[in-house]
Amino acid sequence: MSKEFSFPMPTLARSSRGLLIEQVALAEVAGRFGTPVYVYSRAALTAAFDAYRRAIGTRPASVCFALKANSNLGVLSVFARLGAGFDIVSGGELARVLAAGGRADRVMFSGVGKSRAEMRQALEAGIRCFNVESASELERLNEIAAQMGRVAPVALRVNPDIDPKTHSYISTGLKNNKFGVAFNEAPMLYRRAAVLPHLRVCGIACHIGSQLLDSAPMVEAARRVLDLVGQLAQDGIHLEHIDLGGGLGIRYGDETPPTVDDWLAPLLELFEGRPEELCFEPGRSLIGNAGLLLTRVEYLKPGEEKSFAIVDAAMNDLLRPSLYDSWHEVVEIATRDVPKRTVDVVGPICESGDFLARDRDLAVEEGDLLALLSAGAYGMSMSSNYNSRPRAAEVLIDGQAVHLVRARETLESLYALERPLPPSQS
Ligand code: LLP
Repeated sequence: MSKEFSFPMPTLARSSRGLLIEQVALAEVAGRFGTPVYVYSRAALTAAFDAYRRAIGTRPASVCFALKANSNLGVLSVFARLGAGFDIVSGGELARVLAAGGRADRVMFSGVGKSRAEMRQALEAGIRCFNVESASELERLNEIAAQMGRVAPVALRVNPDIDPKTHSYISTGLKNNKFGVAFNEAPMLYRRAAVLPHLRVCGIACHIGSQLLDSAPMVEAARRVLDLVGQLAQDGIHLEHIDLGGGLGIRYGDETPPTVDDWLAPLLELFEGRPEELCFEPGRSLIGNAGLLLTRVEYLKPGEEKSFAIVDAAMNDLLRPSLYDSWHEVVEIATRDVPKRTVDVVGPICESGDFLARDRDLAVEEGDLLALLSAGAYGMSMSSNYNSRPRAAEVLIDGQAVHLVRARETLESLYALERPLPPSQS
């Protein structure tokens, strides 16, 4: 990365106190809460949400934050106060929305494997819509709603069979992906849904992939959705909303993703003047560049072929580099007058795949702090306890205020639900 790398987090800046988020020095956060620690900026996530709101203008549309990107209650409470809806994929995520003060009637429930218990929980809570992904799920939902004497609001998630040109693990709208119902089956399934007495057809949904750097595939998918909406209208099926999913990419390194305006403009234009409400389900573009992972260098390990900076964060904290080979920019917290060395930034986990960044030029000494940028989305939410490592703490900065929104896990919490076997009787 070039020297002039500009931080993708809008509220991150260098000062005489080292790197700051808003008005708080990251060195101070590390001193108070230890490392590794995820740090989020309220102003940055608010700015990201406002960009959607501004681009949408006065058109009736809702922005439903996709919890899978980050499901911390502190983060969710900020989105709830901004008036966001929520896109969930499990009963656990629904419980989090409610615990954070979010409204059930703004919740969209996606996912291919909704269990009976999750359907009951969501019906009980009164969510806005189930995004149904198969014929069997439609029947099951009708049956559960009947047992409860309820009517379930449904949309079908359709699979437009479009290549989003992103990493294969995160494309979802191709025929060979497990997501959604095939386009040509959709009209038949809508007719079926319309006659099931405990379902109320209210919308249509589609999501083709994540970290998209070009809006063209999304516009193409939206065109196909619009055709289908027309076809359904001919069958007498009228929809209240059209949900175009998430997917807008962010800048990690040298990518140049569209702005929110450029992403939304062709979509808003396509649906101009139509009566349906538009819904969007962004995750990454709302929180990705509003968070970073702060870590401390434990050891420097120079080698003949490779040198390593062994830090206290690992693949259990931030899985994306190991899983997708993704790039996260690494920056020093304090500016140091030491020569740069080229290192792999790796964690303490016993796997060669445990790396956070490779071949980076860093001016660091043992004990120094580093930040892995653009880690607000799919960072903490994909973390694990692998190697019995307690999960990191999470801190949300708001101006000068520092809120600990998740305490660091304790060693006891790692096995609190486990029991050794009693002594053997034989
Ligand atoms: N709606 C649905 C139905 C989705 O499946 C997803 C993401 C989203 C919304 C939010 O998409 P976004 O705006 O964040 O692109 N773990 C991967 C990303 C997986 C995304 C899966 N679906 C990563 O770290 O890159």
